[in-house]
Amino acid sequence: MIRHLQTVDMEKLVSLCKRRGLIYPGSDIYGGLGSLWDYGPLGSELKRNVKDAWWRAVVWQRDDVVGLDAAILMHPQTWVASGHAEGFTDPLVECKSCHHRFRTDHLQTPACPDCGGELTASRQFSLMLKTFLGPVEDTANQVWLRPETAQGIFVNFQNVLTTTRRKLPFGIAQIGKSFRNEITPGNFIFRTREFEQMEIEYFVKPGADEQWHQHWLQERMRWYTDLGIRPENLRLRRHDPTELAHYAKDTYDIEYRFPWGWGELEGIANRTDFDLKRHAEFSGRTLDYYDEETKEHIVPYVIEPSGGVDRALLAFLVDAYDEEPELKGDGRSDSGDEGARRRDPDRSGAPGGERLRTVLHLHPALAPVKVAVLPLSRNEKLAPTARQVYQTLRQRGRWSVEYDDAQSIGRRYRRQDEVGTLYCVTVDFKTVEGDPDTIGTVTIRDRDTMEQVRVPIPELVDALKERLER
Ligand code: GAP
Repeated sequence: MIRHLQTVDMEKLVSLCKRRGLIYPGSDIYGGLGSLWDYGPLGSELKRNVKDAWWRAVVWQRDDVVGLDAAILMHPQTWVASGHAEGFTDPLVECKSCHHRFRTDHLQTPACPDCGGELTASRQFSLMLKTFLGPVEDTANQVWLRPETAQGIFVNFQNVLTTTRRKLPFGIAQIGKSFRNEITPGNFIFRTREFEQMEIEYFVKPGADEQWHQHWLQERMRWYTDLGIRPENLRLRRHDPTELAHYAKDTYDIEYRFPWGWGELEGIANRTDFDLKRHAEFSGRTLDYYDEETKEHIVPYVIEPSGGVDRALLAFLVDAYDEEPELKGDGRSDSGDEGARRRDPDRSGAPGGERLRTVLHLHPALAPVKVAVLPLSRNEKLAPTARQVYQTLRQRGRWSVEYDDAQSIGRRYRRQDEVGTLYCVTVDFKTVEGDPDTIGTVTIRDRDTMEQVRVPIPELVDALKERLER
């Protein structure tokens, strides 16, 4: 598919997300809160689709990975054992003049990037967010909001091993919220203080770790490209030894070319036996695996593909966003006048006078709405059939379906295009009267090609199923 835009304007994307109910600023009526975001009706569908696509690929389609859903709050010792209580920090400096704060490792110059003022000496700032369990707010009742979901997997290693009788290699996958008191959140949902992770801890025999690391690098890169990310916008970057986390022997990041530059989507680390050994030491429990071949107890090594739901979702949005010339006749004759175009900033023409449509070419598995049912107009002859088609699709289709009858058909096509709706089913006058060859038929319009085909209503569910499931 040809894309017309070279770079996506983040302001336009953020505004589209708000306007169309994908993503709103968190606590919007109170003026927002520290780079937190809420997913709206369409955004929550999109987010579910991202998570479902991941779960399908790493749990359902494999026979060596099982799922888990551990609590967000964990015993405080967890974070002492994992090293987070002590060492999950970022280096922070503050400007002595404007008091803006920066991550020391993100600075290009020794002076304040905002006002040129003098900076304080760098100090370590903990990213761990605290809360209290029970009525008394003292240190005995203090717990942390997890900064990664991974530790919920490690502390359940023995439970899962015992209950599933798995043999190495095998993995445990989990999706869930994590919290970090980031010094510099920003770039929309790229870096926030509350976010969701999709993590796998894949347990292998020591010695097989490097080979499995390679396996997961390829698998995870493929997941993004299978879901439509253009390969030229993805790259693998190996961590420099000085960047490695305290638990890692080797790490690669999958990075995406965001409008502001390359940014991490997912880290794939070789965590060795660090976590299991530390939890065994701090809990006093045995966390190991009996190898029937060698008759020895071993502590498995761990390969960890750890991605962010929100970052993946942002990459899918950016990669899918396009502004392209409108096709003549695509609802244009019904789409209203120049006035409508002038009132709607997103329908303004290209410099040469050409009209543009904004479209999200999201992968079918990700698109928040699969099918929209649109009566050509609000004419009372069309509504009963259109409503009936809508109801049939909702009940038989098992996809997300919308009904839209507000404004001209051209504008409704544009509205559906800009949220990535795959197919528009239009009920027009040929559906309800006139030529016997077309009575009882509707059109299916394809989002990407804008082509329309006419199908009899009784064949509609199968026709859509074939398109949506191919
Ligand atoms: N368990 C390993 C781990 O948590 P990480 O590289 O710190 O590793 C993994 O985080 C992924 O979680 C990142 O690649 C990113 O997609 C996501 N992530 C981390 N911090 C984030 C933040 N503040 N906002 C949004 N996503 C974040």
